[in-house]
Amino acid sequence: MNSSEIRLKFLEYFASQGHTVVPSSPLVPGNDPTLLFTNSGMVQFKDCFLGHDMRPYIRAASSQRCVRAGGKHNDLENVGYTARHHTFFEMLGNFSFGDYFKHSAIKYAWELLTQVYKLPAEKLWVTVYEEDDEAYGIWANEIGVPTARIVRIGDKPGMRYVSDNFWQMADTGPCGPCSEIFYDHGPEVWGGPPGSAEADGDRYIEIWNLVFMQYNRDENGVMHSLPKPSVDTGMGLERIAAVLQQVHSNYDIDLFQNLICAAARETNTSDLTNNSLKVIADHIRACSFLIVDGVIPGNEGRGYVLRRIIRRAIRHGYKLGCRAAFFHGMVKDLAKEMGGAYPELVDVQANVTEILRVEEERFFETIEHGMKILEAELGNITSDRRDEAATGGAKVRESILYHAPVLSGQVAFTLHDTYGFPLDLTQDVCREHGVIVDDAGFEHAMTRQREQARAAGKFKLTTGLEYEGVKTQFHGYEQLIAHGKIVALYKNNVAVQELSASESGIVVLDNTPFYAESGGQVGDIGVLKTAFSSSVFQDKGTRDESRSAFFVVEDTQKIQADVFGHHGQVKSGTLKLGDMVDAIVDQAARARIMRNHSVTHLMHRALRDVLGSHVQQKGSLVDQTKTRFDFCHHAPMTEMQICAVENRVNQAIQANTEVCAKVLPYDAAIKLGAMALFGEKYGDEVRVLSMGEYSTELCGGTHVQRTGDIGLFKIVMEAGVAAGIRRIEAISGENAVKWAQQLDATIKETAAALKVQPNELTQRIDQLQNSMKMLEKELVSLKSKMASSQGEELFNQAIEIGNAKVLAAILQGADNRMLRETMDKLKDKLKSAAIVLASVADGKVMLIAGVTPDLTGRVKAGELVNMVAQQVGGKGGGRADMAQAGGTQPESLPAALASVSDWVKGKL
Ligand code: ALA
Repeated sequence: MNSSEIRLKFLEYFASQGHTVVPSSPLVPGNDPTLLFTNSGMVQFKDCFLGHDMRPYIRAASSQRCVRAGGKHNDLENVGYTARHHTFFEMLGNFSFGDYFKHSAIKYAWELLTQVYKLPAEKLWVTVYEEDDEAYGIWANEIGVPTARIVRIGDKPGMRYVSDNFWQMADTGPCGPCSEIFYDHGPEVWGGPPGSAEADGDRYIEIWNLVFMQYNRDENGVMHSLPKPSVDTGMGLERIAAVLQQVHSNYDIDLFQNLICAAARETNTSDLTNNSLKVIADHIRACSFLIVDGVIPGNEGRGYVLRRIIRRAIRHGYKLGCRAAFFHGMVKDLAKEMGGAYPELVDVQANVTEILRVEEERFFETIEHGMKILEAELGNITSDRRDEAATGGAKVRESILYHAPVLSGQVAFTLHDTYGFPLDLTQDVCREHGVIVDDAGFEHAMTRQREQARAAGKFKLTTGLEYEGVKTQFHGYEQLIAHGKIVALYKNNVAVQELSASESGIVVLDNTPFYAESGGQVGDIGVLKTAFSSSVFQDKGTRDESRSAFFVVEDTQKIQADVFGHHGQVKSGTLKLGDMVDAIVDQAARARIMRNHSVTHLMHRALRDVLGSHVQQKGSLVDQTKTRFDFCHHAPMTEMQICAVENRVNQAIQANTEVCAKVLPYDAAIKLGAMALFGEKYGDEVRVLSMGEYSTELCGGTHVQRTGDIGLFKIVMEAGVAAGIRRIEAISGENAVKWAQQLDATIKETAAALKVQPNELTQRIDQLQNSMKMLEKELVSLKSKMASSQGEELFNQAIEIGNAKVLAAILQGADNRMLRETMDKLKDKLKSAAIVLASVADGKVMLIAGVTPDLTGRVKAGELVNMVAQQVGGKGGGRADMAQAGGTQPESLPAALASVSDWVKGKL
């Protein structure tokens, strides 16, 4: 039974028992700060157990995508080292929300396993929570499991409710005792039954966990009874598939085998049992689905966990010889394997590939340097240990057995800070060398750096500045120039009395026309000028322009809710606390921002008209160059829909409607039909922005006076950013005109280059593509002819060593297939021979070694190809009669081939 059938049978079985089949929820739990990622099937039902959420059903079943990396239930570091750990897995589960309890839960599980999946009952063992006599009784008396195969498991010593048979989702939330079902893989596998000293072995494997949800644990660890006892079960799809497909490792199931082959293809690896392939196959699942669910690689929180997993995968690819982005190439294979069950993956496949590619390329820029440093350091540490062992006698040798050598925290930190090596990646590499990392030293170095950065004011802090003065009055709706007094100045985020020429800092004014970034609209830029310093005026009774100060505002950000900070640099003079300034917004920049903001409202409305009222704003960024708008919608927009939105917006622009803003009580505004953003917090009074019949929204941004001011609107990009979320980028006004002109120029240039009129371009390109295809075909056949005639010549180049022949040669222009074919021919002709053939394409070396059967006892093709590959920066292996490998250093190939005959001679 393949994995898809197992998944389907599970859901069908529970549907036939009155369960509603509910789709997997995203990996990022909605509105649940207690959890980093969805780590089991019950997460989306948490509120149903607590009685806070009522659904139209009281029994449900699902196949839930889960990630266990970072946070509680973290399996990241075990991946690749065991047969069963994954960062990403699928959990099959059935749930009862106050409906059935232990009896039916146990009965269903048993029936599915023994009747539907047809597992032999005598292979199954069960555990129950020590105190749970009820569950024990059901297993023993109702199901008839012999008591010898029912094990009671209690709390860990001295820790109430800390037990393998007491399940909790997180430190707080629903929990309860559980009963687990184990499968006995048979005496040929090492391990003992659950609860025994050998339980860690691979013989008895937990396949299904039935949790009897009874409590809600609060922050103080107090257990409150749930309104109604409920059921939550979880069976890892990968584990049950391993059992049903009669393999011992999850990585041997159909789904993983296909991904492992894809990893081998992308990394050019021939040994399919290589552990790194497993890690990569595991990680592509976690990374792709995290991106599908809206996580983007970053330096914090979920984004950083994603980045760590990606980099861990890349490191394993690097270990296999990859020196350029490869990981993203597997997204298509994953979509093929899992897109049927999770269509959301297919929807955003291109986007996932792209995000991974960019992230990979970035890490490949530094990984090589970092690895060299780490390897050198490891070499030092381990050789020190060897020297100690050699000279230090029994005592030191004994200490080596018990104390692993240590990599310094400072080195781990440098790798992190300069080369982007997450700590767990460094640990992973060290572990392979039996070295541990001084993580306390790492933390120490990290803290020290943070403190230094803070002291140097390296980061632009926009909040947290000390300020207790007046609020800033904003005049920028009506005017772009205002007179304001400097009420605070900051240098390196510390309050100062003055800022002098060439110093950067933040200026706070009591009155300003500068808009501070909010609601997706960027902050204004412009200048602050002290018209004349007051002291100068009093002293001389005259204006002294030469002594006035000039500050360029590069950004405006709120430092508190109603206090605006103008970030920038003093270009001349000195700004002093208490000085009056003319605050002048860059009018052209502001006009572009306003056009983009106003057009965003028109576009929002048009999207709802064209796609439906489910369209909701999920995020926006309005700056001088564009508006970027994220919204919920399940599918890519078609060309027609994009045109329809553009047309509607441009019609609204041409209608030249007046744009009006009114401040109203919140309720009155909502009654007017103003669109409020879901999840946004609004005060009692709100600003309502309307554009005639086209749009009414709550908005604090700055806008054009009439829609006609926008000029022109064009969508320039539409793409998926996460499951169910699309992104549009659009331009307006002079930017849109410029865009059209550039496009026009490009088309004209292209047409001129191809010597046709612009309207004949597509036809001409078709012709060119056809003729290119023909040429490619001819080329392939010519290459193949060339290679076979080279094969003939090569025959004569073989040298004799005793009765055998040795041949090592380059086959110009040959691809993999040609190498194999030529190899077969040469083996036939030379009869008794060891042969290495190589070819070079795109800076990479392809190698194949072949040995005739009479010699394979002494000369192994796998070893031979590896010997050559190592000299050209690669690695390889394979069968004794035929093996393939690759390399990255074509310049070393001639010498490597020259070494073949001596090597073979040594073996014969
Ligand atoms: N929520 C339970 C688990 O994850 C079923 O094991």
